[in-house]
Amino acid sequence: MYLGIDLGTSAVKTVLVDSAQRVIASESRPLATASPRPGYSEQDPAQWVEATFATLDALKATHAGALAVVEGIGLSGQMHGATLLDASARPLRPCILWNDGRSVAECRILEQRWPALRATTGNKAMPGFTAPKLLWIATHEPEVFAATKRVLLPKAYLRLVLTGEAVEDVSDASGSLWLDAARRDWSDAALAATGLSRDHMPRLVEGCAPAATLRSELAQRWGMVRRPSFAGGAGDNPAGAVGIGAIRAGTAFISLGTSGALLVPTSRIAANPDRGVHTFCHAIPGMWIQAGAILSAASCLAWISRLFGIAEAELLAPLGSRPQVPSPVSFLPYLAGERTPHDDPVVRGMLDGLSHGTDREAIVQAVLEGVAFALADCRDVLADAGITVAEADAIGGGSRSRFWLSVLASVLNVPIHRFAEGETGAAFGAARLGRLAVTGEAIDAVCTPPRRIETFEPDRVLVDAYADRLPAWRELYRPRR
Ligand code: XUL
Repeated sequence: MYLGIDLGTSAVKTVLVDSAQRVIASESRPLATASPRPGYSEQDPAQWVEATFATLDALKATHAGALAVVEGIGLSGQMHGATLLDASARPLRPCILWNDGRSVAECRILEQRWPALRATTGNKAMPGFTAPKLLWIATHEPEVFAATKRVLLPKAYLRLVLTGEAVEDVSDASGSLWLDAARRDWSDAALAATGLSRDHMPRLVEGCAPAATLRSELAQRWGMVRRPSFAGGAGDNPAGAVGIGAIRAGTAFISLGTSGALLVPTSRIAANPDRGVHTFCHAIPGMWIQAGAILSAASCLAWISRLFGIAEAELLAPLGSRPQVPSPVSFLPYLAGERTPHDDPVVRGMLDGLSHGTDREAIVQAVLEGVAFALADCRDVLADAGITVAEADAIGGGSRSRFWLSVLASVLNVPIHRFAEGETGAAFGAARLGRLAVTGEAIDAVCTPPRRIETFEPDRVLVDAYADRLPAWRELYRPRR
């Protein structure tokens, strides 16, 4: 029996997976995000621990027998967050998250201080990444910086609490800007540019390698016969890739979660940092992932649902299963700024083309189309790096909408596949990594693709209509700095 724990942004989700790779139980607990100032995004690490414990306590209540025989645990997590710990491993302040935009000036300073940043990390310094957040702390909260003895990404902090060991996997570490992406090791020059050293960093392992063991008192609390091992695990996107068997070069997929991304595994680095393409190590040794990342995807649908005071399913129902023509309204999905391709944390969203005749459906459709156009931008900058996308699988909460996947197929002009709900997602991928760390099985024997239940083909008329709209949609973006 294996556990996958995904420390997401909006919730912690824990799945219990049996040896036939069936999800036999799943529990999740919500997480709150604070925005103490515009553009800031923070979470209290104590909340992650509380939510994780609550999911495991709940599994103990309902599936004690299965939980008792768990052998391996995999963690996946929201990437890039800076959790700063003091000498007693206590958090010094709330974690600054992946969608926090405060460290714009620090990105420029970092690139000036360390000109090899893009070549070494495969990434551009953007406020979402971890390193510039530390420079911001050094300037604005010098007492916190001075007291910082360790810097951990969110799931590494959770692992520290669960196991007592500070260990990180290379996929999550590659979102820090401190990793030499080709060597899959910390870069001393990168750390020095932020006033840190390897002493501040956790030990590194591959995602499917053993990393640590659950504390004995916690194994007892959850009635486990033996203390389970933890795998390195992965950042949420690489873990999602493992969950859907995207372990070979070219198996593109789209994630429609709080954030969104178009991701392609590669067997060599094909970076394009100047256009905001992200380079991550894969959770599989010897593989990388090149990605276009957008900061708001399913969160745009959540926003419009809050605004209208109508549940998402109810908002989507009148749209049917596929669009007839593009919405007369256009939407820029930059509710939290944007990474790929603009690297612009201060830009904000926009609805354009409203009239007296605009109805709710036109606005909802425009919101879904706006996210699809943003992913078309990602597709184009990946193409500049020599990566072509011929088809893509869709994962994440947004992939439940058939209408949205139809829009994506026609905007991107590629077939989009959908899986049965359940046995996909970052938590499931994490459980697979937990299994690999224990059994040492062949990766491709475990990381098989789930069954695709539906394919959305591009519609010739809509492909042309969206291709006509894309240039005008792009014109709506005006940098604010
Ligand atoms: C990826 C990214 C997000 C977060 C939260 O670069 O910032 O996907 O990992 O999901």
